[in-house]
Amino acid sequence: MDPRPLVRLAPSILSADFARLGEEVAAIDAAGADWIHVDVMDNHFVPNLTVGPMVVKSLRPWSSKPFDVHLMVSPADALVEAFAEAGADILSVHPEAGPHLHRTLARIRALGRKAGVVLNPATPLSAVEPVLHMVDLVLVMSVNPGFGGQAFIEGALPRIAALRRMIDLCGREIALEVDGGITPETAPAVIAAGASVLVAGTAAFRGGPGCYAANLAALRG
Ligand code: DX5
Ligand code: ZN
Repeated sequence: MDPRPLVRLAPSILSADFARLGEEVAAIDAAGADWIHVDVMDNHFVPNLTVGPMVVKSLRPWSSKPFDVHLMVSPADALVEAFAEAGADILSVHPEAGPHLHRTLARIRALGRKAGVVLNPATPLSAVEPVLHMVDLVLVMSVNPGFGGQAFIEGALPRIAALRRMIDLCGREIALEVDGGITPETAPAVIAAGASVLVAGTAAFRGGPGCYAANLAALRG
């Protein structure tokens, strides 16, 4: 039997204790996280401010799991190299964050990192079609980006299902990740719609380190 889980979990450290971020990353890794999701916000593209490449570099020794870096910054191009050098394995960008999505994705790939495109709730799915051949991941936002702890937007479900069909048709291995409002209650429908990676902030980190393994188990269903 294939020992791999059907769905990967990418806990977002946005909901971790920022005063002890290294220990938090190690604890969520030990609890069964598949990827570590890092939300990078610039108070420009989104109305919040988080971490830069220096923090990613400092966290790198705390986990050997892939660092899944979600860039909510505009423009992103000038930062992708610094994040790649800091230890990001996957770098995802929003099409609205810069004028040349193809160039940004090519830059990420040239740095030897996996490249992702993030679709906000109001971004047409067609935004990813012209670049599907060069992405390793499509990230569907099920909240408007900027904050943890928001309610899941149900309208994401048919979008996930449509992207699942688009990805299967294209025949390449592309992760379909969903981010925002993921809980043990919302996760089953997201998985049924075709997601292969779930981001969870609040639901992963609630209760502190003693709860992380149970939190992740509940998300896997
Ligand atoms: C929102 C971020 C998410 C967020 C998810 O802008 O991209 O990764 O941290 O948090 P929850 O799981 O609390 O909705
Ligand atoms: Zn995110």
